[in-house]
Amino acid sequence: MGISFNASTRMFHLRAGLCSYILQVVDEGYLAHRFFGGQLVEDRLAQPLMRTMRPFSPSPEGSDTDFSLDTLPQEYPYSGRGDFRTPAIEIQTSAAGETLDLRYIGHRIAAGKISLPGLPATYVEDPEEGQTLEIDLVDGLTGLRVVLRYTAFVEHSVIARSVTLINEGENPIKIERIMSASLDLADAEYDWIHLAGAWGRERHPVRERLGPGVRQVESRRGASSHQANPAAVFARPGVTESHGEAWAIALVYSGNFSITVDVNQYQNTRVMAGIHPSGFSWSLLPEASFHAPEVLLSFSDAGLGALSRGLHKLIRTRLASGAHRDRLRPILLNNWEATYFQFDRASLVDLGRSGAELGIELFVLDDGWFGHRDDDTSSLGDWVVDLRKLPDGLEDVSSELQRLGLQFGLWFEPEMVSSDSDLYRLHPDWCLHVPGRSRSLGRHQLVLDYSRDDVCDYVTEALSDILSKGAVTYVKWDMNRNMTEVGSALLPAARQGETAHRYMLGLYAVMAALTSRFPHVLFESCSGGGGRFDLGMLHFMPQVWTSDNTDAIDRLPIQFGTSLIYPSSAMGAHVSAVPNHQVGRITPLETRGFVAMMGNLGYELDVRQSNEEDRAIIRDQICLYKEIRPLVLFGDLYRLRDPKERNDAAWMYVSEDKGMAFATFIRILARANPPLETLRFCGLDPLQHYHIRLIGGDGLEHLPLEAVTLTTGGDELMSVGVVIPPLTGDYRGCAWRITAI
Ligand code: DGJ
Repeated sequence: MGISFNASTRMFHLRAGLCSYILQVVDEGYLAHRFFGGQLVEDRLAQPLMRTMRPFSPSPEGSDTDFSLDTLPQEYPYSGRGDFRTPAIEIQTSAAGETLDLRYIGHRIAAGKISLPGLPATYVEDPEEGQTLEIDLVDGLTGLRVVLRYTAFVEHSVIARSVTLINEGENPIKIERIMSASLDLADAEYDWIHLAGAWGRERHPVRERLGPGVRQVESRRGASSHQANPAAVFARPGVTESHGEAWAIALVYSGNFSITVDVNQYQNTRVMAGIHPSGFSWSLLPEASFHAPEVLLSFSDAGLGALSRGLHKLIRTRLASGAHRDRLRPILLNNWEATYFQFDRASLVDLGRSGAELGIELFVLDDGWFGHRDDDTSSLGDWVVDLRKLPDGLEDVSSELQRLGLQFGLWFEPEMVSSDSDLYRLHPDWCLHVPGRSRSLGRHQLVLDYSRDDVCDYVTEALSDILSKGAVTYVKWDMNRNMTEVGSALLPAARQGETAHRYMLGLYAVMAALTSRFPHVLFESCSGGGGRFDLGMLHFMPQVWTSDNTDAIDRLPIQFGTSLIYPSSAMGAHVSAVPNHQVGRITPLETRGFVAMMGNLGYELDVRQSNEEDRAIIRDQICLYKEIRPLVLFGDLYRLRDPKERNDAAWMYVSEDKGMAFATFIRILARANPPLETLRFCGLDPLQHYHIRLIGGDGLEHLPLEAVTLTTGGDELMSVGVVIPPLTGDYRGCAWRITAI
C-alpha cells in the first residue's frame, strides 16, 4: 500500500484503496502521467511511455527527436513550449513572458496529510490513514517552483491533489491561471456526467459522450452555483450503477470554478479542475506562495453506485469536520414556507408547540427576525432582533421553545448587506464595487467584501454576539445573490483580479472562526437552496439546504443527481405544504415524507393547520425516521431506479454491517392495468436472513401476507426481489424496513 518511488525507472506508484495512480519522470525531467485506474500489483509499469507522432508541434528538445509536449501526457501542463492543448497553469513575467518550462527536481514522501493554509480540505486523524507525496517542478528562468501534492488514502479509493506555487525568483510573477489538478488520459472512450441546473432544479445529471474539442462546466458567479457543480464523473460507455469503470473529479472550493475536458487530435483526454481563470489573477511577489484548492480524484471498477458510495464515505468522515460530523441530525421545523416574513412571538411559539407535539426536535426561525425586515428589501447586515416582532428578544422566544422540548435555530445571510440598512449607510464601501460603476442589486442587496479583514471581523463578532447569548444550536447560513462589480476598495488597481478568491479565503476564515467558537452549533449552508452545494462549504457545514424546490416529485432528480457525489448526510430535505409553493403540484403527504427521508428530514409547513389525519401521518413519519436515521446518515446508498430514465424512482440504504436496510419506491404517474413488478434490493448479505416489513402502498388486502411481512434470505431479496404493491393514483410511494434476523 501507500506511495513508492522506483529510482531506476523514476516512476511513482500511489495506491489508494482499490486504485493505482502512476507518474513517471521522463526524458529531461518532464513529469508524465502514466495511469489512473484499478490497482496494479507491480510497483512499476513494464512498458515504456508510448510516443505518438507530433506533426506541426515544435519541440523544446530539438526538431528531429520523437519528443513532443503536445503528445506527452503531462501531469501539470503548461503552454508556450509546444503543448497546444489546454494548460493547467498560465503566468506573466517580465523575464519569460507567458512561457514556462517546468522540470522535476525532487520529491518527498511522508506519512499523513498536510493541511492547506486558509482552504478547506480532506484530512486524516491518524498519519497511518494515508501518505503524501510532494513533487517539486521548477522553471529555471522565472524561479517559479510548483509543488504538486498527492495524498493516497489507505481506506478510500481517492487521491487528494493540490498545488502550491512559490516564487523563488527575483521578480513578481502574475498567475493568470492555476488549475488544482490535470489528468491526461490515454483515450477518449468516456461519457462524462456533470450536474447542471438552475434555481429550483439544481444538479440534474447530464451524461454525454466525449468527442474531439474542448468542453467546460463552470461558474463565474462568485459561488459554485445552481447552474453547474464543481464535480464530474467520467465513465466508460455502457457503465451502469453496478458495473464498469468510472472516475470522479471534485473540487473542494465554493467560488468561481472550471472543469475542462480537452480531447485532442490523437483522442487523448485531458481533464482539469480549478479556480475559474476568468476574472482571476494573482500577483506572486518574490518568496511568496499561493495555494490552489484541493481536488479529489476517485475511481471505481464496480459502477457509478460504488463510485458514489466511496466518495460519500470520504466526504462524510474525512472532509466534513466538527462535532456534528458523526452525530444524528435533529428533525427540524422551519417557519419559512409556513409564515414567510409574517410572524410574531405568539405565532412562532404556537407553531413550535404544534411541531413539538408531532416529535419535531429543532425549531428554525428563518428570515425576517432582525432589523425591520418585513420583506426582502431591507436590513441584511443589521443583525439585531426586531423588537416589533419579538418584543422580549430572541432569548425569550428560544427559551419558550426550549420549554416545549425544542432546540432553537436561526437564519442568517452574513455575506450580504441591504441597500436599506444601517450597516450600508455607515459603510458604503464595505460591499464589492467598482468606483464609477453603478452597483447592481440582486434581491435588493449587495455583497459584502469578504476580502477585507474589517468586514470579516464585523460579521464574526455580530454573529458571535447572538450565538453566545441565546440558546441557538443551529444556524442556517444563506446567500441569495451572485456577484457583480467584483472589486475591493482596499486592493490596488493591479490586484483587483484577486478579489474573488480573497473573498473565498475571507469566507472560509469567518466560517472557521465561528464553527470553532461555537462547536455545539450545527451549521447548514444554503444559497437560495442549492446554489453553493460543494465540498468547500461541506468542510465547515456538514449539511446543505438542497433546493428551494420542495416538491417531492421535482426533487427526485435533484436528490439523485446530488447523490452522485454528495452523501445523504449533506442533504437537507423538507416536507412542505400542497399545492407545492414552487410547482403547484399536489402530492400525498406519505410521498413527501418518503422523499424527504432521503436526507436530513425537516418540515416546512404550517403544521398548526394540518388536520388530525395528516398529523397522525407526520407523527408516524417522524417515528419511522428516528428508526432509520442512522442508516440514512451513515449507511450505504444504493440508487435502484433513476427517475430521469423512468416513471418511478427507488433507492435504499444499507448499514455498514448489512444488518439493517431501508428501501423506498415512488411511482410518478399512475397507469391503467399496470404489470406486476418486482424491486430487487442491493447491498444486502446474500447469506443472511432478513425480516421485511412493507410500509405504505394501498390495496394491500389483495396481496398475500408474505408480501407485506416476510422473512427470507438476502440472496432472494437481491436476485428475485420483492413485489411492488399496487399504488393507486399519481405520485404514490411505499417503503420496506429490512432487518437481519
Ligand atoms: C432562500 C432560502 O433558500 C430559503 O429557504 C429561505 O431561507 C429564504 N432564502 C429566506 O429569505
